[in-house]
Amino acid sequence: MSLSNNHVIEKNRVPRLTGELVNEVISVLRHAHGWEVSQYDASFLGKSLEKRSAVTASTSVTAYLRRLAEDRTEAEVFLHSLSISFSEFFRNPLTFAILEQLILPTLVASKGESRPAELRIWSAGCAAGQEAWSVAMMLEDLATARARPIPLRIFATDVSEAALALAREGSYNTAAMQNVRLRHLRDYFSTSGESYSIVSRLRDRVVFSLYDLLDAHSACPPTSLYGDFDLILCCNLLFYYQPDIQQQVLDKVCRALAPGGYLVTGEAEKAIVAKHQDLRLVASPAAVFQKKNQLRMRDETDMKKLQPLPPCL
Ligand SMILES: C[S@@+](CC[C@H](N)C(=O)[O-])C[C@H]1O[C@@H](n2cnc3c(N)ncnc32)[C@H](O)[C@@H]1O
Repeated sequence: MSLSNNHVIEKNRVPRLTGELVNEVISVLRHAHGWEVSQYDASFLGKSLEKRSAVTASTSVTAYLRRLAEDRTEAEVFLHSLSISFSEFFRNPLTFAILEQLILPTLVASKGESRPAELRIWSAGCAAGQEAWSVAMMLEDLATARARPIPLRIFATDVSEAALALAREGSYNTAAMQNVRLRHLRDYFSTSGESYSIVSRLRDRVVFSLYDLLDAHSACPPTSLYGDFDLILCCNLLFYYQPDIQQQVLDKVCRALAPGGYLVTGEAEKAIVAKHQDLRLVASPAAVFQKKNQLRMRDETDMKKLQPLPPCL
């Protein structure tokens, strides 16, 4: 591994990183620590490198790269800095309004006339659970409005055990409640001082589990047994990856969608997803897509005509 030393940090400024430096960080982490980060988007890696160089007051990015090679603790901090797990309840208001007013009522109504009757939802990259709980609250509202329970299952997965532990705990501080309506706060949280905890009737709706979207050996989370999801939310994680990995993740979630099922992504990911041949944008300007094949399974004969999904396990 060769570390060039011409990237000296000027006063109050880290120089713009070249592709060469990004390749060096990939090489350092691979050879010194046995970690693979080449799947991440190059500019994301570059920005993370700039940030840690500045935070550690390194004299140059090259000096920081040397430290990364020698200091396992700093290397772990750097690796951790690549796991961005920020999330919010009802994170994108427009997207959630479209889900609430159009997509979820349509899906619930379609379940009345087709089989299987259970609504299947996957929050892929769920972080501390806010996305899955937001959808669960909206569906609970719908069930209350029609005075009938909605058979449903929400599978929420993440590659981070730490994020999943928070999600399962389901307790959030006051700052996390910014986008939560007063009515939802009253109906779906129990309060203790500054802590807001998801009530048990909502907890029963969501199954959290560890799942790496890059796992090439499975088509969907083993906890869900099979794909056939009516709705998948895969928000704000695609843009951290290289284009070929983005495509791989999109192919996977697309295959896991039921015919005519919906995919929601982050706003900043809309342009990436819009290029996918099997998806069409249905609610611009929000990043809500539908699997192009409109056929919804009406009975077992229809189901038999379809190609089986690849096994989940
Ligand atoms: C920025 S958060 C977004 C959380 C939520 N989807 C949202 O939009 O608010 C990205 C999440 O994706 C998870 N993630 C990243 N790569 C993943 C992968 N390969 N498989 C599963 N989860 C992943 C991260 O651990 C993190 O919790």
